[in-house]
Amino acid sequence: MQNWSLRSIAHVIATFAIATTVLFVADSTSRSPPVAAAPAVASTLSVSDYMLVVHGPKGLHSQIKEAVTGSGPADDKAWKALKARATTIVYLADLVLARAKPEKGDAASWKSKVGEYQKVALALAKAAVAKGSEDIKTEVGKLSKMCEGCHKAHK
Ligand code: HEC
Repeated sequence: MQNWSLRSIAHVIATFAIATTVLFVADSTSRSPPVAAAPAVASTLSVSDYMLVVHGPKGLHSQIKEAVTGSGPADDKAWKALKARATTIVYLADLVLARAKPEKGDAASWKSKVGEYQKVALALAKAAVAKGSEDIKTEVGKLSKMCEGCHKAHK
């Protein structure tokens, strides 16, 4: 009798262990991949980081400029890269510049300068989507003229 109850207890424990293992595995596989750290890392992206990635040597801006010099992007692949770079500028400007507080200069000036900059970046991205080489050149030129004004006030 005692043997039986011990076996039943063992059986119950084993069943419980299997069930919880199955539930645990099911639960962990239904969860999304471990990306919880991504927002924390992304929020450390600073204006300085932005400038390096977008306007620094070999940055997105100079890559776009290079792509439209001469006869322009050679094929669909080159156009795709151009569009990707231009839209990334729009996305990052919104994520980094529009949410940043300048260490130097006042907030109203920053807001207006970033707003102007975002308009040009958006026009550039639209021109890239439309594959308009001349329009892209125009907007790239406008971006290049915005550096000094903002740096004087905020860098
Ligand atoms: C809307 C304002 C604004 C515009 C427009 C702007 N910048 Fe900047 N830039 C800044 C600020 C602010 C800093 C200083 C960031 C810091 O050090 O915290 C900076 C820093 C830089 C840096 C130094 C990055 C580093 O820390 O090593 C480079 C390079 C740079 N900008 C290039 C450019 C170029 C090229 C343009 C124009 C095509 C441009 N920026 C347009 C605001 C701007």
